[in-house]
Amino acid sequence: MAEYISISTGSKEQQYQLLIPQIMGLIEEEFDLTANLANVAAALRTQFGWWWVGFYIVKNDELVLGPFQGPVACTRIGKARGVCGSSWEKKETLIVHDVTKFPGHIACSSVSQSEIVVPIIKDGVVVGVLDADSELFAHFDETDKVYLEKIVALVSF
Ligand code: SME
Repeated sequence: MAEYISISTGSKEQQYQLLIPQIMGLIEEEFDLTANLANVAAALRTQFGWWWVGFYIVKNDELVLGPFQGPVACTRIGKARGVCGSSWEKKETLIVHDVTKFPGHIACSSVSQSEIVVPIIKDGVVVGVLDADSELFAHFDETDKVYLEKIVALVSF
């Protein structure tokens, strides 16, 4: 297993294309979920430098904070609450260009301006979400959606 991430430049698409094999190398021989989620969060933050990136895991019908990189964050989110709970309820990726315009957005940090939340779906059931926050408006787009959906599908739950 590699113990470093080689940071690449180029288009966002090229950055994801070079990052994904590295993420596969990090997680393919490890079966521990916490270890793998921690390394995926670290790899994404290392490559993209987002303000916050991490996981919330469904436990007892709530999203509970999991491995992340960035400032401390709220620990529990109910279904349909905030961007994370809405992504869970809708079972779809949500891209929010301006968090102040998202009704019910949960502001863990006033620095965050835009956000993407990707549900992690196993056997038709949402088991968690990947959340990324940026201090820039409209930082996330369809390219992030496509590649982050591929990345969360790599992790065995
Ligand atoms: N903003 C999220 C809460 C999680 S933090 O951003 C890390 C939301 O509205 O669900």
